Order: sequence, then structure tokens, then C-alpha cells
Amino acid sequence: MLSQLTDAFARKFYYLRLSITDVCNFRCTYCLPEGYQPSGAPTKRFLSLDEIRRVSRAFAALGTEKVRLTGGEPSLRRDFVEILAAIRENPSIKTLAVTTNGYRLARDVAVWRDAGLTALNVSVDSLDARQFHAITGQDKFHQVMAGIDAAFDCGFAKVKVNTVLMRDVNDHQLNAFLHWIKDRPIQLRFIELMETGEGRALFARHHLPGTVIRDKLLAQGWQLAPRGRSDGPAQVFRHDDYQGEIGLIMPYEKDFCLSCNRLRVSAVGNLHLCLFGEQGIPLRDLLAEDSQMDDLAQRIAGGLSLKKQTHFLHDGNSGITQNLSFIGG
Ligand code: 5AD
Ligand code: SF4
Repeated sequence: MLSQLTDAFARKFYYLRLSITDVCNFRCTYCLPEGYQPSGAPTKRFLSLDEIRRVSRAFAALGTEKVRLTGGEPSLRRDFVEILAAIRENPSIKTLAVTTNGYRLARDVAVWRDAGLTALNVSVDSLDARQFHAITGQDKFHQVMAGIDAAFDCGFAKVKVNTVLMRDVNDHQLNAFLHWIKDRPIQLRFIELMETGEGRALFARHHLPGTVIRDKLLAQGWQLAPRGRSDGPAQVFRHDDYQGEIGLIMPYEKDFCLSCNRLRVSAVGNLHLCLFGEQGIPLRDLLAEDSQMDDLAQRIAGGLSLKKQTHFLHDGNSGITQNLSFIGG
């Protein structure tokens, strides 16, 4: 069996993003403005706990060191804690992260940590409670803030926060965000709004290049930090006066894809080599039994040779990606 996943452009893939559900209870304007709409047969839609266990074992055998659970909202799964524990059965998976909208954090984060969660990304698009409500469709700003506090209280040394940058929505709040992270070990990551099939009009109105933020940071004495191996494509900025950090994720920048280090598996078990523009390679038929492990690993490694050098977002081509809820961004 291969010990590492490498593609035709010598990129190595240590990092798996595994979606465990499409369902979400938020309605973020840039993702699910109408709320989650169920589709397909209600039975056996999302990978079962055993299927998740097998998929994570195959990726671990192929050299994966980091798994991030995404959704939809992953914590909506009733077996979420069991899923965490199943992935942590693989000693080579050192980092187990989750991307969450944060609504369950205050209640459950300590239990997740006990089950093996090591890293946390929380989506916070505004520090203004009313605007947060307007963007997400949920009046839960204070609950999410309490959840971030709870994460620090139960022992997370650092929390990452995702903020989708939107012109005339939250771009004028840079100083409020900076103030928030002054004395908190938060890496706040501004993510450039990405165009999706359902989000064309929103994109046209609100897309703002992250370079606007970068210029402001540099003018205020922030400095670009060197990239770590499993950091992914974020550019991270630090400042001596701040405990927190700022990350910029700019998928429209030239060479963004050069540092791609992640593979994705959707909630129905398709391997996606890129967030955008392809159907995915089905893995599910090889997830039914432990005895299929070698075939599974071979299909994953073989699929990687098909990975393209870059996405085609620049041409306004978002492929099949109608919204990001099925694969977690
Ligand atoms: N553009 C940018 N980021 C998006 N996300 C979802 N949809 C989009 C989009 N159209 C990301 C956000 C959110 C995470 C769950 O997915 O960062 O925090
Ligand atoms: Fe839900 Fe995340 Fe999409 Fe918001 S961005 S609707 S929290 S899946």
C-alpha cells in the first residue's frame, strides 16, 4: 500500500475533509439562504458510523494526519461523539478538527474534547448580534460567543474562527474584529466569498478581494507569518500587540491551488479532489465491509492521479457546486 498520497503535481495530501451530513440548522446567505432542503431518498443518505470508521482507516493507512469533520452542521448528527471516537481509533491521525456553526458548543464542547477533538473552527460572520441574525437566519450570536468561551474553558488553547468577507456587510468591521482578538488566542480567518451555482447574484454584489484586508493589516504593522506544512492555503498575519492572528483565504489569488493539501469526502461517500467542478469518485461500494480496505485505499490513491492543477473559478465556472453545504467549504 502507498504510504503517501501524492498527485501529478507533487502535492502531498495529509489532510482529509470529511462531510458527515448535508443538514444544517442555519441559513447563511452565502450558503443556504432558503435553509436546508432535503433531497434524495431519506434512508441511508449519509455515511453510517461504520462507513465513516472505514473511510478514516483507509485514509490513515495512506498517510492522512489530519481529519476535519464538516457538513452541513456536523454536530447535528446524533452519533457525533461516536464519530469522533471512531476517527481517533487511528493513532496516525494526530489532528481531529470540526467546522461548526457553534450552536451546540456551549453545551457539548467539553464532551467533544473528551472524545478526542483537538481543533475547532467556528463560523462567525459578524460581531453584531443583529447582523449575525440577519446573515445566518438564527438569533444565536450570544450562544455562539458563549460556546467559544466554553471551548477555551475546557482546554482548547486556540480556536479558529471563519468569517466570510462580504462587501458592505462586514468589511467595515475590521477594527471590531481586531479588537476582539487582541487578548484572545483566536485565529480569525477572512474567507473570500466564493461564487456558487445558487449564489451568483450575492457574489456579484458582495465579493471583495481579501487583498483589501491584507493592505490594511500591513499598514497597521501586521506581518505575514511563514506557512506550516498542514496550514493549508491561508495566509496568516501576526502582530506583537495581539494574542490572536488573522488568516486570509483568497481562492481567487493566483497560485492559491499550489498549496492545496486537502482531499474531500462528501456525506454520501464521494471522493472530491477539488471543492469545485467535478462529480466525485464514489467510494461507498467499498465501505460495506472491512475486507474491502485494500481496494478502497487503491481507489483513493488512484483517483488522486486525476487531480487537476487548479480550479476554474476564475472563468466563472463553479462546476456542479450549487452551494457548499454538501461538502463543507
Ligand atoms: N464562500 C465562502 N465560504 C463559504 N462557506 C460556505 N459557503 C461559502 C461561500 N459561498 C464556508 C464558510 C463557513 C464554512 C462552513 O463554509 O467559511 O464558515
Ligand atoms: Fe450551515 Fe455552514 Fe452553510 Fe451556514 S455556511 S448554512 S452554518 S452549512
